[in-house]
Amino acid sequence: MNKKITIAIDGFSSTGKSTLAKQVASKLGYAYVDTGAMYRAITLFAMKKGYIGAGFFDKESLIAVLAEVKLQFKFNEDLGYGEMFLNDENVEQQIRKIAVSGFVSKVAEISEVRSKLVEQQQQMGKDKGIVMDGRDIGTVVFPDAELKIFMTATAATRAQRRYQELLAKGDLVTHEAVLKNVEERDYIDTHRENSPLKIAPNATTIDNSNLTKEAQFDLVMQLVTNVLVVV
Ligand code: DC
Repeated sequence: MNKKITIAIDGFSSTGKSTLAKQVASKLGYAYVDTGAMYRAITLFAMKKGYIGAGFFDKESLIAVLAEVKLQFKFNEDLGYGEMFLNDENVEQQIRKIAVSGFVSKVAEISEVRSKLVEQQQQMGKDKGIVMDGRDIGTVVFPDAELKIFMTATAATRAQRRYQELLAKGDLVTHEAVLKNVEERDYIDTHRENSPLKIAPNATTIDNSNLTKEAQFDLVMQLVTNVLVVV
C-alpha cells in the first residue's frame, strides 16, 4: 500500500470535484491540484488587463503576454490545501466570483493557454502521489493515471449547489443566472476543439445527484484501495 498513484478526477462544473479531491488527498497524504483554479487565474489576469469583458475578447494580446503569467499554489496550513497565487498575489477569493466563471470557458478554449497549463500540471504530478481535478486530467494531462473518476449530476442539482455557495459568500446572484452559467459552461466545455470534456475510456462515472458526500467519499476510497492492491 506504499506505492503512490495518480488520481484524475474530471467532470462537469459544480459536481463537487474539488471537495471530493481534497478529502481523498488529505486521507492519502497526497498533494491536491485544482486545475480549474489555474484556468480561472488566467481569466482573472485577462480581465484585469482589459483583454476580456462583456462582448469582447482580445485573444491575441492575451496569448502574447502568457509567458508573464506566473501561477503558484501556496499551501495554507489552516485550510489544508494550496491557494492560488497569480503573479505573487493571492487570488483565491477573486477567481471564484461569477464574473470570472462567465469568461473562463472562453479562455480555456485557447490552445496556447491549455499547453502552458498542461505542462505545468504534468510537472506538478511527475512524482505521483497526487489528486488532480479538472476536465482533461484523465484524457490529456495524465492519460496513464491509475485511477480515473468522472463526476456528473443534473444541471439543476449543480446550479442549486453553486447558487447556495455563492449566496453564502455574499455574491449577489440569481438562481437563473447560475443555471444559465452552468449550462453555457457545459456546452462550451464539451464542444470545444481543444481537449473537450469527455469521459476517459477507463474512467469510473459517478452521478452524485442523489449521493451524499460521505457515500461518495467511501465509494472513491474503495476504488483507491482496489487500485492500490494491484499496482
Ligand atoms: O472546475 P472549475 O469550474 O473551477 O473550472 C473552471 C473552468 O475551467 C471550466 O469552465 C472549464 C475550465 N477547465 C478546463 O478547461 N480544463 C481543466 N482541466 C479545468 C478547468
